[in-house]
Amino acid sequence: MNFYPLAKKALFSLDPEKAHDLSLKSLRTLEGLSALSALTPVMEEKPVECMGLTFPNPVGLAAGMDKEGNTIDAFGRLGFGFVEVGTLTPLPQAGNPAPRMFRLPEHDALINRMGFNNPGIEEGVENIRKSKDFSGLIGLNIGKNKVTPNEEATSDYLKCLKTGYNSADYIAVNLSSPNTPGLRDLQNEDETKKLVNALRIEQAKLALEYGKHVPIALKVAPDLDDEHIQGLAKVFLEEGLEGLIATNTTISRTAVKGHKYGEEAGGLSGAPVTEKSTEVIAKFYSALGEKVPIIGVGGIMNGQDAADKVKAGAKLVQLYSGFVYRGPDLIKECIQSL
Ligand SMILES: Cc1cc2nc3c(=O)[nH]c(=O)nc-3n(C[C@H](O)[C@H](O)[C@H](O)COP(=O)(O)O)c2cc1C
Repeated sequence: MNFYPLAKKALFSLDPEKAHDLSLKSLRTLEGLSALSALTPVMEEKPVECMGLTFPNPVGLAAGMDKEGNTIDAFGRLGFGFVEVGTLTPLPQAGNPAPRMFRLPEHDALINRMGFNNPGIEEGVENIRKSKDFSGLIGLNIGKNKVTPNEEATSDYLKCLKTGYNSADYIAVNLSSPNTPGLRDLQNEDETKKLVNALRIEQAKLALEYGKHVPIALKVAPDLDDEHIQGLAKVFLEEGLEGLIATNTTISRTAVKGHKYGEEAGGLSGAPVTEKSTEVIAKFYSALGEKVPIIGVGGIMNGQDAADKVKAGAKLVQLYSGFVYRGPDLIKECIQSL
């Protein structure tokens, strides 16, 4: 039964952030009552090998939806093969003042400047540990606190890596949110090299300590020119990066010019970023080949968009805005299109 059109009508009458909070709360309640499985399809199995892991299906929930990691089981019940929790930072953080999330339905788009509102890595990891019914994989997306200067960013990422290592299937290092001042400067090749190097050294120590290897992926912005992509690809190969998540939201506003929220600060996502993000995936793929697997995200609004990302070189895909506009049916449609 497709209940989403009705739910969407009610949710879209609310402020976007309130609708988000209410949706997650309702999902948790329904999951607690074992009522979700009656409403939604069971997880489709279409296993994919990526980063040395077996994903039950190639469609995941992108970071930022379950920032706290307390709704994993419910998202699994809706059919996602993996859920990326976070972004989590070392210290809890309130994020930017509201309003900080905007719907642009005329463009099937969202703009957000949440600013890493999150309960902190320790609480996030405790929440992940409480997940009990999810048969998919869990990614842990980590970031730095706003108060941490970029020169000390590595220590924030290391703290998150150490705290979360044993509770995640992979770690996603977020260098690409436009809503933490200066964060994207860490995508500068020298900075990225230093950071990935430090994380890889710590990862080797943690692998010995816990007796398991947890791969590290990096999440990049769509706003990278060709030279920057080539430079970063070189760094990824030199440092043995294990995965690339492309892409985050865009700071470009060309596609939504003239919309009443078109000039709101933050990252634009949804349909306006579809092509750009697929282009970035294709460019990274031509530089990296099969050596660094790519998780494709950005404006997947239907099965064809997901198939285009895979054609461009992605092994897995993730949904955020498309899921807001289309609901759980989109998960199934994407799995079937791949
Ligand atoms: C409201 C909102 C919050 C987000 N928060 C995060 C976040 O905390 N960390 C992150 O890596 N990406 C975050 N994202 C980016 C998404 O994970 C995704 O990369 C981006 O929205 C592009 O995909 P989409 O077009 O399917 O939404 C957020 C996106 C939205 C719309």
